[in-house]
Formats: sequence, structure tokens, C-alpha cells
Amino acid sequence: MITPDTIGKILDATRVEEVVGEFVKLKKRGINLIGLCPFHNEKTPSFHVSPVKGIYKCFGCGKAGSAVSFLMEHEQYSYPDALRYLARKYQVEIEEEKPSEEQQIAIDEKEALFNLTAFAQKYFEDTLYQSEEGKAIAMLYLKERGFSLETIKKFGLGYSPGQWDNFARYAAKNGYKKELLIKSGLVKESDHQIYDTFRSRIIFPVHSVSGRVLGFGARLLISDKNKPKYLNSPENDIYHKSKILYGIFHSRTAIAKLDNCLLVEGYTDVISMHQAGIENVIASSGTSLTADQIRLIRRYTSNITLLFDGDPAGIKAAFRGVDMILSEGLNVRLVLFPDGEDPDSYARKYRPVEVQQFIAENSVDFISFKTKLLLNEAQNDPIKKASLIKEIAQTIALVADPITRSLYTRKCSEMLQIEESLLIDETNRIRRKKVLPAEFEQSPIDVAPEYIPEPQHPTASKNVTNGFHEKEVIRMLLQYGDRMLELDALDDLGKPIIVSVRLADFVVEDLSSDQLTFDNEVCQKIHQIFQYNIQNAEVPALRVFTDHPDALVRQITMSLIETPYQLSENWQAKHHIYVKPESENIKESLLQILYAFKLKRIDRMIADNQIKLSNAVDESELTGFLKLDMELKSKRKTFADALNRIIP
Ligand code: CTP
Ligand code: MN
Repeated sequence: MITPDTIGKILDATRVEEVVGEFVKLKKRGINLIGLCPFHNEKTPSFHVSPVKGIYKCFGCGKAGSAVSFLMEHEQYSYPDALRYLARKYQVEIEEEKPSEEQQIAIDEKEALFNLTAFAQKYFEDTLYQSEEGKAIAMLYLKERGFSLETIKKFGLGYSPGQWDNFARYAAKNGYKKELLIKSGLVKESDHQIYDTFRSRIIFPVHSVSGRVLGFGARLLISDKNKPKYLNSPENDIYHKSKILYGIFHSRTAIAKLDNCLLVEGYTDVISMHQAGIENVIASSGTSLTADQIRLIRRYTSNITLLFDGDPAGIKAAFRGVDMILSEGLNVRLVLFPDGEDPDSYARKYRPVEVQQFIAENSVDFISFKTKLLLNEAQNDPIKKASLIKEIAQTIALVADPITRSLYTRKCSEMLQIEESLLIDETNRIRRKKVLPAEFEQSPIDVAPEYIPEPQHPTASKNVTNGFHEKEVIRMLLQYGDRMLELDALDDLGKPIIVSVRLADFVVEDLSSDQLTFDNEVCQKIHQIFQYNIQNAEVPALRVFTDHPDALVRQITMSLIETPYQLSENWQAKHHIYVKPESENIKESLLQILYAFKLKRIDRMIADNQIKLSNAVDESELTGFLKLDMELKSKRKTFADALNRIIP
């Protein structure tokens, strides 16, 4: 038992942002921090952490709690284990008591497996350092591979001896039941005899994000054609191959800090890179990344750099799986090592600075790389070139963000020396056909419950009506939806450039990233039609609305496109005022309208929240509303600042 006194000390020392920050990449936003919610899949951050209140809350999925509940929910710790974790982190002294028999039984199966893998890891490590076999053969092998003692310790490497059942006996002696040993995959049974799975192998413990051992990779010491080079833990309650990334525990901080994740193939690549001082590295363990693994990476960064052998097989390996990474919204770069080298061998051959320099100088964005490679293959063959354009468009079509997509169509059309519109058309055609229907079903635009207006409750809404601004946004969509806007963006080297994005794409994306909808049902309906069509890469024709079955849609559309808003030229001449017509100034007009709309909406949310605040019945309700109030106000400031930049 941990005494209440100790619990108090631990909680006093705990900073929620530091605890959550170990698992989620957080950015400062006012007095709070925000990041991508680790509890649900999202692309724009709605996960808020308040250092002042010591809590986190996701406005997307509603998960909320303290540092302790975060560890329980995210790392599946029990309450006492979460406290122990915090005690270690904040160096609060705590008396670790031996679990009683009763407690031992109460530990669930998962905990028992965690317990066993930790025990096994220690056993393998001890065997490496202490047994004759470990010291003489395994340690020698690791040293010969160039691993320093420090590195070996850091990654918890170990050795499984050659005997038949050394571990099985040792574990049984320490009270581990046969069923559990078999379930963990460390021990196997045949003819009522149990024996060790890993024998005469170097052991690579595989850690969770928080550093718990989930399972093992085990490499043959002496190559033997009749045995697989690696054996890995089998799937069980804690080891899920498709969710594991080797190195994530040791590399996550560097990945977040450098905002880039280097992906290599094997255990030894990760370890050698770390030894060379490159610490933002993880391994896919020789296969393509799964969606779960990509989402895990995305908690820390949206940039991934693939490090591969320069041989044809390495290049093919690089092509595989990249589609999935792109469609999960990550930016992909690529470094090819000289033929015959992998990150491990390269890091052993060259000095750390040289490795770092090599990666920096040889990283190219994946889509350009693919384009260049295919272009070389096609040479001047027009038929090959046509199919190459299709293939490039296939890849670009996977990129969800319209601005990034348009960067790629521009760059690749230059490389291919074709009209950009050709590539844009092809990309849109592909998106219409296959990418989008799936994307649309998987991630419907989710709206935080707090942001949905609740007309049935008495609110302040009437005082701050939004009708005019809503209609203005819809008018822009109807009138100029297919116009191209020139927007400022950064290219892949961080240089400011200008990209063209279709107005409708921009508006729909922008509103959805701020999770805004329309109050006016008709406006909402029109917006949804745009949303749906944009997902299919099309801007709906005006006809869709002017001939809509719903009379109200027809009516509003007509009233909006009659544009009573423009000043007539005669009027301007008479008054000696010359205003640039809106049609020549679409971008500024749109931004003004959008920000004004958002400001109004936020004002109303603030007012609604004030009413709730004054009616709050208890402390926890009050805290929630106060927190929302702060968040809304900081968001309001962002919009107001943006608007001020447009109309000084
Ligand atoms: N792998 C595996 N099972 C195998 C072979 C490989 O699980 N039979 C996985 C391992 O995670 C391995 C990665 O694929 O780390 C890459 O394989 P490879 O390049 O062959 O291994 P390395 O780790 O680079 O080992 P070494 O350099 O010692 O050959
Ligand atoms: Mn290797």
C-alpha cells in the first residue's frame, strides 16, 4: 500500500503537461497546450491540456482527466502503478512493497504478462553479463558488431543460452505458471516437455511507448541456413506486432523535438544510429507500416523519412507502403544509402557527423523521387511517359491536404515537362474514383459536441445573430467556388511560395478544421453539398442549387447570386469612389468574410457559455465552463488578429 501522505507528495510534484507530453506532442496555445488526441484518430488537434488546472480534455472525443487517469487510460496502468510511475518520474520516495498472495491473484492477465516479460528481460540481460556463454560468445559478438557497452545497456540487450530449458526452469522456480509461460511465447511445450523458444540468440527487448517490455526479437548468433535469422514474440495480450514500433520508447522525444521520424528496417539499424547520435529513429521490423503504426508516429510528428538500401530491392521496399503513409496525411521523404549499405553498416563505417551529413544531404521528398526515377525509366518513350503521369497522379491523389497536393502537382508537372492542368485533372479524376469514397466513409467530419448549437435551450444566440455572415460564406462558395486562390505556403525546404487552391476546397477544409457548421439549416444543407462534392474532388455546379428539390435552397441560392452587394460603376463614378470589384479581389473578400463569420460564431459561443457559467450548479461544472471560456477567448483572439491583418 502506498500511504496517503506519499500519494499527496506524488500528486504535488506531478505536472500534467509533462506527463501527457511524454506521449503526445503538445504545442502551446495561450495558457494551455494542444495536440492530437491519443484516444481517437484526428488530423487537427482538439486535445487540450491545462497546466493550471492539472487536467486534459479532448473536445473531439470527450476524454478528460488528470495525469493519473491519463496513465491509466493510455498506458493501461493500474492506479498504484500510475502512482509508481509518477513517483519514479518525480523522484518521490515510495516504499515498494512485495505483492501479497492475494494481490498476486488479483493482478490481471495483462499485468501478469507484463510482469513476466520484465522478468525475462532481466534474465536475458543477466545471462549476457554473467554467464560464461554470454560473456565469452554473445558479448564478443556484440562488441564485434561495434556496439558499445553503453549502447548495449541502453537498449537492454540480452542473451538466451543454448541449453534446452534454462529459462523455463528458472521462471518456474520463481513461481511463474506454465500456462503463462506458454502464452508469452517464451516457452513451448511438446510431448509434455517444456523448452525455451529462444536459444543461442541475441535478445532485443521491444518496448512500449512508455518503456515497458512488450516482447522480444531474438537473433541467431551464428548464421544457420536451416533456422530463421530472427524469431519474435508471438501475438499475445500485450505484444501486437501491428502496433509496435521498435525504438519508439528511446526515440520519441527526439522525434517530437526534431519534428521528423527516421524509419529504418531493423533492430540493429536503430541501435547503430543511436550510437551515432541520431536518436529520432524507429524500425518497422522489415515490413510495411500498418495504419496503427503510422498513427502512433503521427502523435509525435507528421514528417517521416525512410532510410533504405540503395539496391533495387531497397527501392522497391521504399515504394511499398508509402501510399498508406501519404494517405494518413504524413509527409514522406527518402534517403537511399549507397548500394550494399544499410543504416547500420553505414553508421559503423563513418563518423557520426558524416552519417548526419549524409542523411541531411541525401533526403528527397518521396513524390519527386518517384517521379525522377520513373522519368529515367521512361526516357523519351511517349507511351511510357503517359502511364508514368498516371502513376504519379495516383500517388499525389493520396495526399489529403489540398495545398500540399497542389505543391506536388506543380513540382511534378515541371519535372515531367507537362502542363500542370493535365496532372491536376488526372489527380482529381483518381480522387473522384477511388481515394475519396473510402476516405469519406472512414473519417466523417466530426464536430465537437460543444460546438453544435443547441437551439432548444434558452441561449444568448438571438442577440448575436450570425445569419448575415453565414450567408456571405455560402455566397462566396456559390459564386466563386471553382476560382483558384493564390495562397501563401511553405515549400518542402521551408521557403515561402505561392500555391493555387480552389476556393471551395479551401473554405470546406478551413471550416472543418475549425469544426464550424452553419445555424441556418439551408446554409448548412448547401455547405454539406459542397462538402460531399469536394470529397469527390468536384465543385458542384450552380444548377445543383438553383434546381434543388428543396424550395428553400433554390430561394436562398437565387437571392444570394443576385449580388446586391456590389456597388455599381455608375454609383462609384458619381461619388468619385473607386472600389475594386469583388470579382477581382476574391481572396481578400473571402478571408474577410470567413474571419468575420468565425468571430461572430465565437462571440456567440462565448455568450452561450457565459449563461451556462452563471447557472453552473457545482464546482466541476463551473471549472468546465471556465475552461471553455478561456479556450474560446483565445481562439477569438486568433481570429481577430487574422482579420486585423487583412483590414488594418
Ligand atoms: N526480421 C524478422 N524476421 C526475420 C528477418 C528479419 O523479424 N527472419 C525483421 C527484424 O526486425 C530485423 C528486420 O526484419 O531487424 C530487418 O532484417 P535484416 O536486415 O535481415 O536484419 P538486421 O536487423 O539488419 O540484422 P543484421 O544486421 O544483424 O543482419
Ligand atoms: Mn542489417
